[in-house]
Amino acid sequence: MAERRESLHGQWSGRWAFILAATGSAVGLGNIWKFPYITGDNGGGAFVIVYLVCIALIGIPVMMAEILLGRRGRRSPINTMTHLAEEEGRSPAWKLLGGGGIVAGFLILSFYSVVAGIVLAFFFRTASGVFEGQTADGVGALFGSLLGDPERLLAWHTIFMVMTTVVVARGVRSGLEQLVRYLMPALFILLIVMVGYAMNAEYAAGVARGVDTPFMSGLSFMFNPDFSKLSGDSVLIALGHAFFTLSLGMGAIMVYGSYLPQNTSIARTTITIALMDTVVALLAGLAIFPIVFANGLAPDQSFGLVFKTLPLAFGHMPGGIFFGSLFFLLLAFAAWTSAISLSEPVVAWLVENRSLSRIYAATVVGLITWVLGIASLLSLNVWSGYKIFGMPFIDLADYITANILLPLGGLLIAIFVGWKMKKESVADELAIKQTRAFDLWYVVIRYLSPIAIAIVLYLKIFKVI
Ligand code: TRP
Repeated sequence: MAERRESLHGQWSGRWAFILAATGSAVGLGNIWKFPYITGDNGGGAFVIVYLVCIALIGIPVMMAEILLGRRGRRSPINTMTHLAEEEGRSPAWKLLGGGGIVAGFLILSFYSVVAGIVLAFFFRTASGVFEGQTADGVGALFGSLLGDPERLLAWHTIFMVMTTVVVARGVRSGLEQLVRYLMPALFILLIVMVGYAMNAEYAAGVARGVDTPFMSGLSFMFNPDFSKLSGDSVLIALGHAFFTLSLGMGAIMVYGSYLPQNTSIARTTITIALMDTVVALLAGLAIFPIVFANGLAPDQSFGLVFKTLPLAFGHMPGGIFFGSLFFLLLAFAAWTSAISLSEPVVAWLVENRSLSRIYAATVVGLITWVLGIASLLSLNVWSGYKIFGMPFIDLADYITANILLPLGGLLIAIFVGWKMKKESVADELAIKQTRAFDLWYVVIRYLSPIAIAIVLYLKIFKVI
């Protein structure tokens, strides 16, 4: 048995502190902004099924693997990988897994902050009452005018990056646990209120437009699979989103795992987090799609889906200003706790290897990300004509990270844990009591997860699908 290490950066106070922090990382814009819009763009039900299968067969097993690596190494991802590779007698090149994660983290955080800025702007807009009684066209125009205004986007992006940097500078533990403990349940309840609204009030709006049951239309869009609408790209996007939404494949969960107390069950913890994350995403879809159908909108609104639909409901429901402002505020908090986890791997590494203070490291990371974010922000307006691989920069940054870098990171994690570590090290760290459950997981992480990821990536890269 390896000697037990302590993390340089402290430890969570217990299992629930970790669950809260990791859920805070997992639940964010990915669930409420991205999941509904990619579901809309990829035709609904069949996509949702592929996504759920990816969560169960790849996301959960890989998450367990990533947490166990972090807890065993007890360092930032680069140093954890260097150390474990040495301990297991493997090539030092495995540290590239940590390095690649840092690149992915910068890229994700840069566009994430721009979208989170839009959420902040929508909080103020909703609170000011501009959405009261608006039509779908009116809400769409308000969204469009915000996207077309780089100065305002920059102001919000800056505010969000400053908020993130301040918390990261103070260290993950202080404040974060408390924040997540109260705000996540509040967001969850608000989503249920929105689904309840969609079930009832949207009915009237829909009937007026000749849609009898918008809620049923939303439900059937999300859960009635039509596999003919599924393209090869959809499969890759579903796989990539399983990684994105669980914060996997770039070291965020690894670094959180490195602060996890030794006696916590990784398997149970992972399943709890993945379940909560999935339920939030499905609720967001159930709140949004009925609004789409009740208002005669098309479900494939891409990037703008959540911003063009929810304000419509808030503009018509009783207490809409209150519920709407609260919703966008909580969504901004959810994005905040996710953003913090995106910069934690690189900040922890700078503190360990460059002996920077946390404050200094967080500021450097914040500045670099802020500059990168400006490219994303301008690609929404001034630079919208410039496309790389047919996509504006912000879409490219999202595509490359979520659909290529994160699955690649996940593939390497599965290979390292499944093939490069001694089985005893893995079993010792996971400490699953039922041997059957452990054996099942071990087969999945050795064969099923890596082969599935490799096939999808291979087919996509060589343009077979
Ligand atoms: N999971 C978060 C969301 O769904 C985003 C996120 C946070 C993330 N940390 C990450 C994505 C690490 C990939 C990797 O909004």
